[in-house]
Amino acid sequence: MLRTDTPVTVYRKDYTPPAFAIDHVDLVLDLDPQRTVVTSTLKIQRTGTADAPLVLAGEELELVGVRLDGQPFSGVKQDGDSLTLTGLPGTGTLEITTACNPAANTTLSGLYVSNGNFFTQCEAEGFRRITYFLDRPDVMTTYRVTLRADRAASPVLLSNGNLLSQRDLPDGKHEAVWEDPFRKPSYLFALVAGKLERIEQTIVSASGKQKLLQVWVEPQDLDKTRHAMDSLVHAIRWDEQRFGLELDLDRFMIVAVGDFNMGAMENKGLNIFNTKYVLANAQTATDVDFANIESVVAHEYFHNWTGNRVTCRDWFQLSLKEGLTVFRDQEFSADMMGSESGRAVKRIEDVRVLRQVQFPEDAGPMAHPVRPDSYEEINNFYTVTVYEKGAEVVRMYQTLLGRDGFRKGMDLYFQRHDGQAVTCDDFRAAMADANGRDLKQFGLWYSQAGTPVVTVKTAWDGASGTLTLTLSQRCPKVGIETRAGMPDKQPFHIPFALGLIDAEGNDLPLQREGEPKAGASTRVLDFTQAEQTFRFINLPRGGKAPLPSLLRNFSAPVVVDYEYSDAELTFLLSHDTDAFNRWEAGQRLATRALLHLVADVQANRELKLDPALVSAFRSVLTDGALNPAFREQALMLPAEAYLAERMGVADPTAIHRARLFLREGLARTLKAEWLAAYEANATPGEYSPDADSMARRALRNLALGYLADSGDADMQALADRHYQQSDNMTDRFAALSALVNSFAPGREHALADFYERFEDDALVIDKWFSLQGMQRGEVGPHAGKRTIDTVRALMQHPAFNLRNPNRARSLIFSFCSGNPAQFHAEDGSGYAFWADQVLALDAINPQVAARLARVMDRWQKYEMPLRERMRAALERVAASSTLSRDVREIVSKALSA
Ligand code: TRP
Ligand code: ZN
Repeated sequence: MLRTDTPVTVYRKDYTPPAFAIDHVDLVLDLDPQRTVVTSTLKIQRTGTADAPLVLAGEELELVGVRLDGQPFSGVKQDGDSLTLTGLPGTGTLEITTACNPAANTTLSGLYVSNGNFFTQCEAEGFRRITYFLDRPDVMTTYRVTLRADRAASPVLLSNGNLLSQRDLPDGKHEAVWEDPFRKPSYLFALVAGKLERIEQTIVSASGKQKLLQVWVEPQDLDKTRHAMDSLVHAIRWDEQRFGLELDLDRFMIVAVGDFNMGAMENKGLNIFNTKYVLANAQTATDVDFANIESVVAHEYFHNWTGNRVTCRDWFQLSLKEGLTVFRDQEFSADMMGSESGRAVKRIEDVRVLRQVQFPEDAGPMAHPVRPDSYEEINNFYTVTVYEKGAEVVRMYQTLLGRDGFRKGMDLYFQRHDGQAVTCDDFRAAMADANGRDLKQFGLWYSQAGTPVVTVKTAWDGASGTLTLTLSQRCPKVGIETRAGMPDKQPFHIPFALGLIDAEGNDLPLQREGEPKAGASTRVLDFTQAEQTFRFINLPRGGKAPLPSLLRNFSAPVVVDYEYSDAELTFLLSHDTDAFNRWEAGQRLATRALLHLVADVQANRELKLDPALVSAFRSVLTDGALNPAFREQALMLPAEAYLAERMGVADPTAIHRARLFLREGLARTLKAEWLAAYEANATPGEYSPDADSMARRALRNLALGYLADSGDADMQALADRHYQQSDNMTDRFAALSALVNSFAPGREHALADFYERFEDDALVIDKWFSLQGMQRGEVGPHAGKRTIDTVRALMQHPAFNLRNPNRARSLIFSFCSGNPAQFHAEDGSGYAFWADQVLALDAINPQVAARLARVMDRWQKYEMPLRERMRAALERVAASSTLSRDVREIVSKALSA
């Protein structure tokens, strides 16, 4: 494991091109769990100055030997994590032999063993744990890979590209040779070796070529691969149609592994996935799992063009591939919903994540621009800002340029940069040049951090029918921007979509001052100044001002500050033609009501249910014309973490009490309506993960959750029946959650039954741990029971294992970040647990430990004494003398903020 005493900061401004190019690499790997020997033969060519040394990166490697053009080479110096070669000629063939220990590699970066099989993970800097190399994305080359391994232990040998040959060797070994015809950076290298089986199918691509598609898994999981394969085929077709992009290889493989740090990895032609994003069947996966698999399979496939064919010049440009690819997978999933209302639901889900997770990141100690300027550990910058806010930035191009204009920009991007390692500026230039647009100011979205707040003021002149909107934007410095010497921030170029609605709820055709006649009813304003005025003329004269529907479809990642009245929000909730803003109006109403309740809890006042909110909820719940999936989104209360961000000083206990009060109140008051929705949305017949059935199950199971929270015995019995009679995981898990969280009498029995049924299925057992990590404490007769005690007890369960990231996440992360009220227990027990687990995990897997460390990011936002206790826990971790660079960066930034 890497341990550094002095943190080293890497700066974007320090980028320099490499001193050597690598024309080709030939890798031979003798795979052995304890000692894998790697021989790397590099065709090198000097591209920099004549005396520049070649400095290769390598970690945790045993150097066996170095040869130049067939002769032993002595100009080699090994220090720390680099190998410096001096006195090299202009061109030559370098042969480097090293050894590593995959079985001992618990970091899951580089070459490692999982359940007896070999896997690699090279992004961002894992290739250097396999061999010494110019391990940076702007060094692209072709790879030929020879894998040798024990035939019985590793019957399957896979790597990138095409299989050239396979043969048996003496001593029970065998060999496979793979060649990837495309030049690629080292982070896209992959190999897999072990006992795996596949499903496969061939398809004919748009231009008529045969393609072999495979999904590789452990033998017992073969019956859970169909959905991943279907998703892959859909993704391939979609990219052909929407972007004219075809699969460029003859063979495309997906492999699932149970030990994996992230979701999945887009290695060229050999995508490696966390089992969580591959394996699914009706009995073991929920509708949400099915949807996630579809989206992650598509995401990795889409990287083949946005990431692999055109890659990043350096890691500061990460959003070039990630923001763009998330945008593409979001659009794909929206199209797969098959309806306009389905598209809106997908948009709502994506914005919910952005606001719940990215906005806080952008306001905390780790705040960074979409294209960061510095990092200590690059793995810490695979963030919601780079991914999800990056996707919003890409979406804004499409909003500004239109779908066709965006497509022109994409075409030009590939025309210019296919086969290259480029920057976010290159992408922006392609968008600008293809459309003849000036996008200079738009570049600020890449360089400035923080969430802009847009304040809207309206002035209505009824006599002339003129509505004047004054928009102003502010975005104070955050995180690193607050340090001395950092430049002042400039106004963003914000595409601000809006509509105006009349008293009957109709969209008005809009005519801006200076336009000859009225046009479309939704307009995208180019809002580019600190304060700017927009005027709409020839609106119906006399009467009341039209009601503005602001930031339609969430056209920019900003906060809109506008004082709607409750009545206006209720009106928008039932009338806005923009489905996103209908949802938004409901969320604003609920947030307002909840924040009032929180204040009441804090002041020890009696809590009262707001009748206006109840009736707004009733209208949505009983409106059979609305897509059930939309209703589910609209009836879901804002998350506790979201509410915490909306408070000046966060009080997690009061938030929890207030939210639970509202939930129980809505459950009791609307019991008949919830029950009717429950009955009306059954999905008889065999389970099917189609959009319509998923929507019905979502609403039905939401209703069940509310009903169980009413505390009524008959409703808890209903949850019990729902559990017993379910024929799919969506229903079964929803019922289990309802039973567990409402402390229903059937709770313990159902938990035990669930464990027994699925004991052999790791992903389902993860759900079982996770549900218990997130369970409420102190409800009714269980008042005073702390979830931390359950969590600590579950850490001792024979099925718990800290080394497996999915399992660690299922219990520890679900408690620390999915259960705010219990995690922030006043006695500090949650924080002590956090510190224990960060330190324990850091000794095993720094990447996973650093993710857990981020739970404390917002410590300064909490009330006393929580804030002080959080700081103490952070300091305890920071004081450790053996911290990884990963965790050190997170805790030191948190403490110095
Ligand atoms: N590039 C991957 C994706 O977005 C992310 C990823 C997978 C990753 N594994 C990783 C990033 C390990 C850092 C470390 O699809
Ligand atoms: Zn990605």
